[in-house]
Parts: sequence; C-alpha cells; structure tokens
Amino acid sequence: MGFPEIRPRRLRTTPAMRRLVSETRLHPAELILPMFVKEGLTEPRPIASMPGVVQHSRESLRKAAAEAVEAGVGGIMLFGIPLAKDPTGSGGIDPGGILNVAVRDVVSEVGSSTVVMSDLCLDEFTSHGHCGVLAADGSVDNDATLDAYAQMAVAQAAAGVHVVGPSGMMDGQVGVVRRALDEAGYADVAILAYAVKYASAFFGPFRDAVESSLEGDRRTYQQDPANLRESLREVELDVAEGADMVMVKPALPYLDVVSAVRQRVDVPVAAYQVSGEYAMVEAAAANGWLDRDRVMLETLHSIKRAGASMILTYWAVDAARRLH
Ligand code: PBG
Repeated sequence: MGFPEIRPRRLRTTPAMRRLVSETRLHPAELILPMFVKEGLTEPRPIASMPGVVQHSRESLRKAAAEAVEAGVGGIMLFGIPLAKDPTGSGGIDPGGILNVAVRDVVSEVGSSTVVMSDLCLDEFTSHGHCGVLAADGSVDNDATLDAYAQMAVAQAAAGVHVVGPSGMMDGQVGVVRRALDEAGYADVAILAYAVKYASAFFGPFRDAVESSLEGDRRTYQQDPANLRESLREVELDVAEGADMVMVKPALPYLDVVSAVRQRVDVPVAAYQVSGEYAMVEAAAANGWLDRDRVMLETLHSIKRAGASMILTYWAVDAARRLH
C-alpha cells in the first residue's frame, strides 16, 4: 500500500495529534544551567557577547540559583572568575577561592533541591589562560596538571558540591580525580566527565565571560573537529576511569558524536550547548532574523533527539519555564 491510502500528514493534522505522536519530549529536569560568579563584584555584570547572561556577584548568584530551582532545572554548573590569576591557577585550589566559596553559597541556598556541579579546570584561574600548568618549554604539562586537578576536586567536594566536571582534557584526569575524591572520603561525589571536547571556535564568548587571557589555542589537548572515532575512545577511557556521566561539547555542530556516544556507552550522556551556539541565535534574534524562542526549543529538541540525556544550556531557565 502507498499513496493515497498512506498519508503521513494525518498524524500532523492538529496540535493534539502532533503532541500524541511526538517522539522526543524535553523536561526541565534534563536542563543544566551554567552560571558565572566573579570575585569582588557587588552587582551582576552583563557579558556583552552573551546577551542575557551575567557574571554574578555572590549575592546575585544565590538569588539566581534559587530562581533556577523554582523553574525546575535539573542542575547548575558553576564557573568562578578570580580577581587575581597566577601561572598555577592556585585560586582554584584555595578553599577561599571564588569557585569554592560560590559552591558553599549555592549549596547552602538550594540544598539538595537541584544538583550542584562545578567546573574542574584551571583555565579560569591561570594567568596564561591554559587549562593546565605549563612545563619549562611552555607546553601544557599533563601530569603536573593532574596533581592540581586532584586538589581542586577535593576542595570542591569539601565545599559541598554534588558533581565535579573535569573539563581540561588532560589524559588520566578522571581516574586521578576519582581516586583523590575517594581517598579524601568523598565517594559520593559524582564525576561528569567532559569526555569529548573539541578545540572549538564556539567557545569564543565563554572566554569573555571568564576573562580568559589565552594566547594561542588548546589544540594540544582539545580534539580536532574532524574526528569522531577519537571521541569514542575518549569516552571509553573516561568510563573505564570511573566517569559517572560523560559529556559531548559543543552540542549542535556535533550531533553525530552525541548519537554515536549514546550508542557506545550506558552512562548518562550530557551535551553542552556552548556560549557560541547561544550567542549566534541571540544575535540573529536581536536583528529580527530568527524567532529566538522557536529556535531555542528546536535546538534543544535536536540535541535530545540525537541522544543526550541532559543538556547544559544558557537558556535552561527560559526553556524550563516554557516547558511547564
Ligand atoms: C573550560 C571550559 C570551557 C568551556 C566550559 N569549560 C572553555 C574552553 O575549554 O575553552 C566553554 C563553555 C562555553 O563556551 O559555553 N573550563
């Protein structure tokens, strides 16, 4: 049988019919809101390349975290911007460093009503802007960086974080962080591994958000956008090292990778709709060239359809409110 008996349009006739046969549904609980907090701010400060996103003060962060919980988001991912950066990124390890302080603030504000996560990486804290410490020849020193990540993980766990997100793409980082957490008595703190992270130009606005002074690029540790099999290898290594969840980043330009990772492993797969993905749509919408709200939900559905169990997005609160 074919046309005219078979008519796929029958299932698209009304909103009720389309709702009934929808294959992909988004829920606020699957959305994770990335948030920035800057040391020393008394008022939140807008980020020019990310309209609607701010660097929070400690106080505004608490308030915004409570609002995100109210909207029903599944998690919050915290990034800290210190006043002073140094070559070893010591502000990330210091219990009084801005990210660790912010974790304490947010956990005391929201308790366990949402999942509180922290970025586990040195780039926000280093004066050279790299995700690790540098060797004498200026290259990023993998194994010396692992020591710093281990200390950072324990500091974040001590501050009460529920999930750490190692995002520096150093070899062995998940295993080292797992061991450090377990030895320090934090066996319940989970790891969301940025298993697949491309050396992407879509991170541009994020570098403004965290005032990164990076010179050069991250291609000796982040992945070549041309590669897919390499991503599957990274994911398998991270799961073997103890990753509880894995992430693919960016999201929209890498939906084939999200899909392949979903098929390869059974742990939850997160996708990060990054700063540049957000900025592109906001900029076009500001010009009247795209319908922002529709594009927002379309991209989130696409990422979910590709196989993501959860999505980090700067639209998390906005989208969550539209999904109620
Ligand atoms: C590293 C980190 C980055 C992002 C999240 N974690 C920047 C980078 O690797 O260059 C980018 C997120 C975004 O663009 O929204 N700490």
